Amino acid sequence: MDIRTAIKERKSVRKFLDKPVDKRTIEELLEVAKWAPSGANCQPWRVDVVMGKKKDEITRAILEAKEKGITEEPEMDYYPETWKNPYKERRFKCGLALYSAIGIKRGDVEARKEAWFRNYKFFDAPVGLFFSMPKCLGTGYLVDMGIFIQTVALAALDFGLSTCIQASLAEYPNTVKRILDIPDTFSLICGMSLGYEDKNAPINSFRTQRVSIEDFVNWHQ
Ligand SMILES: Cc1cc2nc3c(=O)[nH]c(=O)nc-3n(C[C@H](O)[C@H](O)[C@H](O)COP(=O)(O)O)c2cc1C
Repeated sequence: MDIRTAIKERKSVRKFLDKPVDKRTIEELLEVAKWAPSGANCQPWRVDVVMGKKKDEITRAILEAKEKGITEEPEMDYYPETWKNPYKERRFKCGLALYSAIGIKRGDVEARKEAWFRNYKFFDAPVGLFFSMPKCLGTGYLVDMGIFIQTVALAALDFGLSTCIQASLAEYPNTVKRILDIPDTFSLICGMSLGYEDKNAPINSFRTQRVSIEDFVNWHQ
């Protein structure tokens, strides 16, 4: 797949086929993604790949915590306390398109919760990836993490695989780090579901839009 097509065709997939991805394919994918650039070539990323029982253990632990109303402090400050425009409006539109695709009405809090909780089940994907970075590096290295994560998402397409990058999978860093033996010298940045897209699933049928380049580019000469 050429790079232009990959960038435009990548989308977040939120329902995967019950079809395993073999370990060799994941290794090959990460062998490609590791060529992502990073400041001073520090390659700050740590990736934890979860499948099978370990993946189920994480799902169970997060859902149990949610049911008990237990929360943890995420290690990456991501969502603002108050949303301002244009971000507020864009977020609203994105949620509306997502929930409309699966026939959930605006006020249906229970159905929305159920749909959101599918995040913690990795949207039925056979593989989950967790991305962490060393705490000893500056926050600027979050840029490198983002570049690496997008590289994984793009390279996945070339293996016929789809992804969903998920901040939601980093809501319980202590739990995830304990289960996966990730040292506390690392911060959990986000997770990713990886697998084969269920092309018949309504949730995968919508595409998000983008603003025109005039809205974010400033020319100077
Ligand atoms: C850092 C990051 C965190 C995200 N977290 C979630 C998440 O927790 N759950 C989810 O369903 N989508 C999540 N997304 C997916 C975004 O909603 C999606 O990328 C955006 O709406 C654009 O749609 P597209 O990926 O289909 O192009 C996340 C994306 C990024 C880049």
